[in-house]
Amino acid sequence: MEGLKTQVAIIGAGPAGLLLSQLLHLVGISSIVLERQTRPHVEGRVRAGVLEQGTVEVLTRAGVGARLENEGQRHSGFSISANSKTCRIALEDLTGRHVTVYGQTEVTKDLMAARAAADGELHFEVSNVELHDVESDAPSVTFSKGGVSHRITCSFIAGCDGFHGPSRQVIPRERKLEHERVYPFGWLGILADVPPCDEELVYARSAYGFALASMRSATQSRYYIQCRAGENVADWSEDRLWDEIRRRLGPDMASHVVTGPAVEKGIAPIRSFVCEAMQHGRLFLAGDAAHIVPPTGAKGLNLAVGDVQYLATAFDAYFNASNEAGLKRYADVALQRIWKTQRFSWMMTNLLHDFDDSDSFTQRMQLAELDDIFSSTAKQTAIAENYAGLPYDNILG
Ligand code: APR
Ligand code: PHB
Repeated sequence: MEGLKTQVAIIGAGPAGLLLSQLLHLVGISSIVLERQTRPHVEGRVRAGVLEQGTVEVLTRAGVGARLENEGQRHSGFSISANSKTCRIALEDLTGRHVTVYGQTEVTKDLMAARAAADGELHFEVSNVELHDVESDAPSVTFSKGGVSHRITCSFIAGCDGFHGPSRQVIPRERKLEHERVYPFGWLGILADVPPCDEELVYARSAYGFALASMRSATQSRYYIQCRAGENVADWSEDRLWDEIRRRLGPDMASHVVTGPAVEKGIAPIRSFVCEAMQHGRLFLAGDAAHIVPPTGAKGLNLAVGDVQYLATAFDAYFNASNEAGLKRYADVALQRIWKTQRFSWMMTNLLHDFDDSDSFTQRMQLAELDDIFSSTAKQTAIAENYAGLPYDNILG
């Protein structure tokens, strides 16, 4: 067994794990990142693409702001459409803040490049990752790579290994509370090298189900439609998918939809999930390992970045100023923001999707809520504040 030593062992090289290792490096804290996939696989995953201003600030502080600054698109609003009416949520006018459209795929590549430039220690294609003695002062992580077994001894373990990773499973059942809602639909997404149908994002409720018109750049579009849970992507030819996108966006928007071959096409399940116990002994969870939001609020990556900025600040105080306050407060402070963001993502999901089993009363409530939003600046402001991103608390108290 080969022995390795570091201050923080990080499991998972998604945005959460990569950003954490980069922020720790900048304050002189060592880390080793373990990832079960290859680097091209991690860099090739297509995910969401809307960054809160706070997220952009953290990424810039992490030293990965340059390409984001050049290539990210600043959006000062987005639209909700329903019943042939469209309501623009004027983020900038209502909150003074904007969002940046820049794919998570690009964020991941930038973080990966920054870690490589700093000679960060990352191990790809590892297997059998196991966490040990997290309740003691001397935790460790074992893993195999290329047939060789390794053990990392460390001061802390950061579980950044997504929803299916092993970290959360180490927390005993009686020490955690898991809250979950699985929705009866998925999102079928298509990425295509065609210009977007609008300058800003459009979230559409239609009688045929939800649709979202999004983008990555002036020449690349990203569309989603609500589909039945468990549906097979092979059943959706590109022609059928484009027809459905146009039908759900309505005739006005549909006339601006440019179609083209898919660069990527896939179905994602939709779920709300929170693990209440983001810490157990010397194990700290961050990102999708601890929570999942439905994508309707564009919050998945932003929440992960929020967790990581809290955790990096707490580790900095612990290692560089012997201050344990941040680590003690981490779970409570992070969860406060996570629950509010869960509520927003759940509200947007309920507002815009077609629920097969909803009765006529529930449908009327949905329409009345939309009507209310379309005519109330107060309601639009509340949506804008959440969409632009809730403020961060001071983790150190
Ligand atoms: N060993 C090592 N690595 C693992 C293991 C394991 N047993 N299990 C999972 N991983 C890796 C995954 O391969 C993945 O690269 O952990 C990483 C987790 O990354 P993400 O799933 O991207 O999660 P996170 O970094 O928290 O990012 C949150 O990304 O998934 C989206 O919607 C999500 O936008 C959100 C953001
Ligand atoms: C995306 O562009 O992939 C995207 C945008 C907004 C969302 C979800 C996904 O709410």
